[in-house]
This record gives sequence, C-alpha cells and structure tokens, in this order.
Amino acid sequence: MNTLAHPRLLITGATGLLGRPVLRACRSTPGWSVTGTAFRRAKPGLGLEHADLSQPETVPALLDRLAPDVIIHTAAERRPDVSERDPAATQRLNVGSTGALAQWAAERGAFLIYLSSDYVFDGTCPPYRPDAPTRPLNAYGQSKLDGERLILASGCQAALLRVPILYGEVEELGESPVTVLAKNMLDAEAGAPLAMEHWATRYPTHTADVAEVLRQMVARRLSDPSFQGIFHWSGAEPMTKYGMALAFAPLLGFPRERLIPDPSRPAGAPRPQDAHLDSSALERLGIGRRTPFSSALPAILAPHLAARAASKARPHP
Ligand SMILES: NC(=O)c1ccc[n+]([C@@H]2O[C@H](COP(=O)([O-])OP(=O)(O)OC[C@H]3O[C@@H](n4cnc5c(N)ncnc54)[C@H](OP(=O)(O)O)[C@@H]3O)[C@@H](O)[C@H]2O)c1
Repeated sequence: MNTLAHPRLLITGATGLLGRPVLRACRSTPGWSVTGTAFRRAKPGLGLEHADLSQPETVPALLDRLAPDVIIHTAAERRPDVSERDPAATQRLNVGSTGALAQWAAERGAFLIYLSSDYVFDGTCPPYRPDAPTRPLNAYGQSKLDGERLILASGCQAALLRVPILYGEVEELGESPVTVLAKNMLDAEAGAPLAMEHWATRYPTHTADVAEVLRQMVARRLSDPSFQGIFHWSGAEPMTKYGMALAFAPLLGFPRERLIPDPSRPAGAPRPQDAHLDSSALERLGIGRRTPFSSALPAILAPHLAARAASKARPHP
C-alpha cells in the first residue's frame, strides 16, 4: 500500500450504472486518490482512463502505470440474455479481465474488490450465505463465478461482493433492469393492460448504497489488513417486477389496474427464482446502508419525466 491515509484506488467500469456512484463516493473521501477506467464512454474531460478489458494482455501495462493500492473491479457484461447469445465474448471480458487483475494484484500486493452477482446461485434455497453452494443457471452467472474462482486461486488479497438486481441514477430509463419497467409503462399503448413478470422474487438494491458499502469496505481494509473474503450486500425488500411496477405506478400517473401480474417463468436466459443474499456478515462489521425502494424512486425518475414532458411540449416540425 502507498500509505494508509493516501491510498491510490482504481475503479474499472467507472462509466457504468454502479461505477459512476462508486467513483463519486470514493472521490469524495478525503486523502484517496481515485482513477476510473471506461471503454465506450471514455469521453475527454471525465478524467478517466480508456481501457479495453476484453484484451487482458493489456492489463499489466495499465496497472503498472497507475500503480493502484486498491482495485474495485465493476466492469463486466451484465446482461444475461447478451451473455447467453455470446458466452465467449462474456468470458473474455468478465473472466479474462478478472484473471489479469487478480494476477497483477497478487504480484504487487494490491487489494482487489470484485463485483459479483446473486446469479451464481440457482435460487432454490434462499437466503444464501457467502459460503452457500453455488450453481449458476446461465452463462452470465457462470462467468461471474469463474471470475470469483480465478481470484481465489490467484492468492491475491481480495474481497468478493455479490449483489442482486441494481437500480439508481440512470442515464436513460432503459439502463437499469428496474427503471426499464418505468420506461415500458411510459411507452405502453394508452389504456391497454400491461403484463409484468410476477415469477421471480428480487431484492432491488440502490447503486448509491452499494457504492457506500464498497467505500466502507475499502476503509475497513485500510484500517484492518485481515479484512478479506466473500461478502453479500442486498436490499431488504422482496418484490417481483410486478411489485416494482406497482411502486412506479403513482409516480408515472399509470393506473395500477392496468398492470397484470404474469406468474409464468420469463423467457430468455434461465434465471434463479429467489436468490436472496444474506448480508449479515457485513452488517456484523457495521458496514451497510439501505435506501427504501419507494423513497428512492422520485429523484431517479424526475429528470427523465421532465425531459419527456419537455419533448412533448416542443412543437414538432
Ligand atoms: N446491474 C445489475 O443489476 C447487477 C446485478 C448484480 C451484479 N452486477 C455486477 O455489478 C457490476 C457493475 O454492473 P453495472 O450494472 O454497473 O454494469 P454496466 O452499467 O453495464 O457498466 C459496465 C461497465 O463496464 C465497462 N465495460 C464494458 N465493456 C468493457 C470493455 N471491453 N473494457 C473495459 N470496460 C468495459 C463499461 O464501460 P463503457 O460504458 O465506457 O463502455 C461500463 O463502465 C458488474 O460486475 C455486474 O456483473 C450488476
């Protein structure tokens, strides 16, 4: 480590749904020097390093130059249906990059925090503790588990943080698997019923809460060099996508009776029915933060509803 008071952090995927709040939370911590990587959204002025992590052979040179003490690895392909169609590309990014980061961290004594997923579990035996047996049902979950295994085999000092479905501040409503439901409701044919999946129980978790948990994990590691291992962090409110849509309805002026619960298993990549993550290990360490789902939604929706209203008010050419 550089010095405990002035660590250098590197956050991969700093333009992503989770990476953005992680970058913000870490940059707001006095004494931490924080760099992020980005790929397609690596625009000038953001202070981010361009990196294509699907080319793992480029990772050592990047890390030698930036010399991080702590790496928070969020970059990944995280859309299960995309991974199911092209598992090799997902393996290159999700597994290849993770292996290269872990090897560098092992050689240089850096601390690696890896973002993993509740999809490493099959969803038949919730709640899942960090040491519960894994059994991914789809290619995305397998890639996240393969990344975990490479880290554990590398011998580097690391924390693996598994999280469930995420939502938070989005660049567009389609960006998160939760806010896309609001987009579907806004785009639905006027007056028509709208079916919403009511099969899988999920625990939507705010990205700002996960960012704060990660910040607290880094702080913990800086003060306690024995801190490492597999951890879970999850929101505490069980709901199906139908339940989430009910929470969006009053904020969108969408009549709730138009929402139809659909109890059938969703199409696409197989998903766990209930992969509830037991977060008690972090809670026991005094780490955690939870924002209630319905209280988070107005601020998330506001800029998007305003933009839609403005675009409707503009005269069409
Ligand atoms: N979102 C969820 O619901 C969820 C649930 C459980 C676990 N997770 C895990 O949480 C982590 C963060 O997910 P997220 O939702 O923030 O993902 P995301 O919004 O899709 O962001 C992905 C990030 O990875 C970067 N990236 C993509 N391809 C890359 C490449 N070839 N080289 C370098 N960087 C690349 C992207 O950069 P550019 O945008 O600049 O291209 C972006 O910053 C992931 O590890 C994911 O598996 C997410």
